[in-house]
Amino acid sequence: MSYNLLKGKKGIIFGALDEKSIAWKVALRAKEEGAEFVLTNAPLAMRMGEIKKLAEHCNAEIIPADATSVEDIENLFTKAQEILGSKIDFVLHSIGMSPNIRKGKTYGDLNYEWFLKTLDISALSFHKIMQVAEKQDAMNEWGSIVALSYGAAQRVFPDYTDMSQAKAVLESIARNYGHRFGKLKKVRVNTISQSPTKTTAGTGVGGFDAFYDYADKMSPLGNASAEACADYCITMFSDLTKMVTMQNLMHDGGFSHMGISEEIVELLEKK
Ligand code: NAI
Repeated sequence: MSYNLLKGKKGIIFGALDEKSIAWKVALRAKEEGAEFVLTNAPLAMRMGEIKKLAEHCNAEIIPADATSVEDIENLFTKAQEILGSKIDFVLHSIGMSPNIRKGKTYGDLNYEWFLKTLDISALSFHKIMQVAEKQDAMNEWGSIVALSYGAAQRVFPDYTDMSQAKAVLESIARNYGHRFGKLKKVRVNTISQSPTKTTAGTGVGGFDAFYDYADKMSPLGNASAEACADYCITMFSDLTKMVTMQNLMHDGGFSHMGISEEIVELLEKK
């Protein structure tokens, strides 16, 4: 259902890789709600070509940008404002990658070059995006910037290895830039901490199926889907959440406040 929540708003959406991507669902919902936006992803991800289908559907242009490159981000914000014909109202950072996870490294055997890459891609990129937006004065007043996080920023999920630190840094950047951007331009900055979701990034984490099922059984509402996450992002971009900033917003079906659930007790008692 559409409520015209983003009518007249202009945005930049990072991270739609394929139709499972959370950013993909956000783009579809943003379009339904009347937004105009550009899509962006790393040049390498573009080669897979899937994003073109989304761009056609949303009548959106694609501007490639490696989110670790300040130069690419500068070009992106300049071109996005030209294409959209105005400053930007909303930005979605939906980017995560850990070479250590990709290569199956355990927490006691991390490659530090890769660790830095994980932090650069998954966390510092968020700062870079906001610093460029500030320097170009690219955000409209009362704009909204959202990044996606995961509960491993606060709690231990052993297979999430260096991404846990990346998410902790990401959430800290949201608080600190949220303060700055709020004072400067009344722009709000938040992270949404999403349930495990079956996407390329998600399923790349070791033991994903087990912790997906575990989280589902622990959460009174079950795991939040990518579509539900997109709905939440849309509300955060809309004028209905103007005073929410510097928050890490749990979108996890209740998981983070649970100790143990009946389903897990039942499962363990069967053993
Ligand atoms: P996805 O694999 O569809 O999206 C990750 C995106 O990051 C891809 O589009 C990829 O091309 C992009 N990316 C990687 N390196 C990049 C770079 N250097 N520059 C620009 N873009 C780059 O997976 P998903 O799940 O949609 O991930 C989106 C966000 O949601 C990530 O931050 C992820 O950590 C977060 N998240 C995912 C959860 C899950 O279980 N899938 C749970 C909680 C948070």
